[in-house]
Amino acid sequence: MMIPPFLSIDTTTRHVSLDASNPAFYSDPNTVYAALHAHCPTFYWEQQKQWFFTGYDHVNSLLRDRRFGRQILHIASREELDLPEPDKHVANFDLAERYSLLELEPPEHTRLRTLVNRAFVSRHVERMKPELAELANKLIDGFEKDNEVELLSAFSDIIPVTMIARMIGIPEEMGPQLLKWSHAYIRMYLFGRTREDEDGAERAAKEFSDYVKTVIAERRADPRDDLLTHMIHTEHKGQYLTEDELVSTTIVLLNAGHEATVHQIGNSVRIILDSGRDPADLFKDEATTERTVEESLRICAPVHIFQRWALEPVEIDGISFKRGDKVSLILAAANLDPAKFSDPLAFRPDRNEAPNLSFGAGIHFCIGAPLARLELNVVLPILFERLPGLRLARTPVVKDVYHFHGLDRLDLAW
Ligand code: HEM
Repeated sequence: MMIPPFLSIDTTTRHVSLDASNPAFYSDPNTVYAALHAHCPTFYWEQQKQWFFTGYDHVNSLLRDRRFGRQILHIASREELDLPEPDKHVANFDLAERYSLLELEPPEHTRLRTLVNRAFVSRHVERMKPELAELANKLIDGFEKDNEVELLSAFSDIIPVTMIARMIGIPEEMGPQLLKWSHAYIRMYLFGRTREDEDGAERAAKEFSDYVKTVIAERRADPRDDLLTHMIHTEHKGQYLTEDELVSTTIVLLNAGHEATVHQIGNSVRIILDSGRDPADLFKDEATTERTVEESLRICAPVHIFQRWALEPVEIDGISFKRGDKVSLILAAANLDPAKFSDPLAFRPDRNEAPNLSFGAGIHFCIGAPLARLELNVVLPILFERLPGLRLARTPVVKDVYHFHGLDRLDLAW
């Protein structure tokens, strides 16, 4: 297996040097992941100063391993871990994150997730299928006659935010504003964020939280059949969500609810067009469509890295971690492990191998996976059916936001 020139691997120390902002890497991370699988699947990334795992079995078991958590401050103090005090200039961001499902561990996580889950999955997802199809068709009606489109702005950006806003009960006309807040907000999760990113995220968190509070007040006064009303009124063992919990949960659902799905619609369309396969075969019935969607999620996942804290001393793959160490799991690389997937870089929807790990595993498994899967399974076949002869009008450019993986533009013609 060739090692690309911008990647340096010391197999003795398992140290890797790789600039995440190098376009040769983030435009085509799969080639690097293949080299890492061949030479050094568990590695210390010098620039990130952390151990990373790419092996499927390691990533899968670490996601489920209760000796690791997304949070550690529930069992250890900042002093004990030698962590700096929280920055005051991102106080509103921290408050909005305080009760995010992604920032909690049991028992708080279990309570919150149970409350959201009940209202979320059971009643609201499947029944959105007809309106999802209607929205996709309406958007295509708007550009079908043009014979060309920039798909992200005209289609992918609009569908997930509209659906999650409807589901929560946020007015649809807030869509563009929600996208702006969300884009500013998620810059906090990127490698090498700047003070400007932090100030932007702080402003977005404040405005976003204030806005959500006004909608919560409206729903308290005037309940409706939407997720926010359900979250306000659903109880678990006699407890209701507090105002801060409602704000955090609404924000995490709105952000997570569209960002990854937007990227994945673009990534899927691109991989299907690149594959040269006939869309009529790939979407010929529901079962085949499902396999096409899952293969796209495997080979070009929209979010690559998730981190965990070691909650106690633990050794994995010969590496000793102490309490308070952080590890990174590259889900998108685990999906390419040659020990699990034959010819892993090939797009082969008919493969019947391990499930992809793009939605994670264990207690933090993506709560929105049923919604994201429904969106992909409904809108992709409609797009390819309505626009026969769909092709790339220009080579797509990958966004410079690794560890998210998505496109800047997707110019198509038919
Ligand atoms: C293709 C689209 C999506 C992908 C690839 C994706 C991926 C993921 C992954 C990998 C996790 C687990 C993170 C971890 O273990 O550290 C996660 C968690 C989560 N996702 Fe998604 N997601 C997608 C769409 C959605 C949607 C549509 C929603 C909202 C409706 C959503 C809401 C969430 C939430 C709230 C969590 C946190 C769950 C918890 O911590 O218990 N996601 N997602």
